[in-house]
Amino acid sequence: MRPVVAANWKMNHGPAAAKAFGRDLASLGIPPGVETVIFPPAPSLAALGESLPEGVALGAQNLMWEEAGAFTGEIAPGMAAEAGATWALAGHSERRALFGEGDEMVARRLAAIAAAGMVGVLCVGETAAERAAGQTEAVLARQLAPARETLAAPGRLLLAYEPVWAIGSGSPAGPDEAAAGAQACRRLAGAGLRVLYGGSVNPGNLGSYLGTGEVDGVLVGGASLTAAGLSALLAAAA
Ligand code: PGA
Repeated sequence: MRPVVAANWKMNHGPAAAKAFGRDLASLGIPPGVETVIFPPAPSLAALGESLPEGVALGAQNLMWEEAGAFTGEIAPGMAAEAGATWALAGHSERRALFGEGDEMVARRLAAIAAAGMVGVLCVGETAAERAAGQTEAVLARQLAPARETLAAPGRLLLAYEPVWAIGSGSPAGPDEAAAGAQACRRLAGAGLRVLYGGSVNPGNLGSYLGTGEVDGVLVGGASLTAAGLSALLAAAA
């Protein structure tokens, strides 16, 4: 299977910037040996889709478990799909920490992604304090438990092991730590699942994660925000 490079832009790049990014990336070229997906903010999905090179998928950062209704601020899977998204994240640590999303809510979002036939990426990971207290595996177990049924059904779901202390910190997990996290995820949620690593990934350390043989790809924030940056990540993964 091709390694996955997933670019999570978070709340960066509106439609005009996204469109320019797609054009720049197209001029830099895409290696065929990498499964590439970009998660822009929802208002930028369609604009990015207009300029992205062939073979790069689009994803939504967060989706609702209903298709319509009184859910101010939420985005339905069908709406994101109409704007071009074929992938979606669920449970990113920023959703959990800043917006109070709990494990049950995240599991509902993931189930909706699966029901919509999209490729879902469920993000899990422990904080520094939880790791220091020896709770890493217990935290992963708690986060994965309500999603187990969804993850067990045949579908197109992946996990992303993203230790919270490594995200945006410039202190990435070591390859052994990432591999152990990926192994724990598979033990807890299903041996056949693909598991990405995320947290301060850059073109210089990306290969060390893929080289463990346990990590099937990477979920990248900061280093994916320029076309040159993403292109360097893709070259490192190819
Ligand atoms: P980072 O973000 O690469 O900027 O650490 C990763 C993520 O939040 O998915």
